Amino acid sequence: HETPLILPSLLAADWSRVAAEVKRAEDAGVQWLHLDVMDGAFVDNISFGPQMVQTVRKCTSMYLDVHLMIHRPDHYVDRFIHAGADNITIHVEARYDNSVLETLRHIRAAGKHAGIALHPDTPFEAALPYVNDIDLLLVMTVVPGFGGQPFMEKETMPKLAAARDYRDAHGLKYHLEVDGGIYPHTAPIAKANGANLFVCGTSFYGPSDTAAAMAELKTCVA
Ligand code: DX5
Ligand code: ZN
Repeated sequence: HETPLILPSLLAADWSRVAAEVKRAEDAGVQWLHLDVMDGAFVDNISFGPQMVQTVRKCTSMYLDVHLMIHRPDHYVDRFIHAGADNITIHVEARYDNSVLETLRHIRAAGKHAGIALHPDTPFEAALPYVNDIDLLLVMTVVPGFGGQPFMEKETMPKLAAARDYRDAHGLKYHLEVDGGIYPHTAPIAKANGANLFVCGTSFYGPSDTAAAMAELKTCVA
């Protein structure tokens, strides 16, 4: 419903030169950068935490979209707010000390944007209690945990379309984000089903000609 954006995922960048990798995105005209936080419990991988968000914040004024693939996100959320996150997305499937709803309201009360993420197996209906309290709905297009996995079209595109149709029928405004396996050949499928935010790990940071990769991705979602 808004201008489509390509969001590079820092997970696929070269972490030995984080500042340069952030600048690579900035130089390519990126507006939103995606940061994947993994705890080794909610997903079978460990990435980074608030310290990396703070490090990136020092390098750029780009909008930082933080995707928490962690249990007890409510216990950690203030640390990501203070680290400089602009949007914080939490998973409905995670364990909470309090509740999903309280966590979303807490993020927004801090002046930040809040998102809900759905695992590929989770139906859109699981997000229904939260649709009035979110800025963004993330439909995972791979099983979260690793970059470089194939796009799960059949499992996730009907859900994305349902999330778009529900939003439009109810006058809601949330962004629709897809994450996982987004390439020039899959992004148009996600776009046709309602996505406007496209997380690109491998497809952005993989090619050495970043300008060309970005130009192709942007053309595919325009
Ligand atoms: C998956 C992460 C994604 C991942 C996408 O758990 O949430 O953001 O980095 O990577 P690609 O684009 O390589 O599938
Ligand atoms: Zn992600």
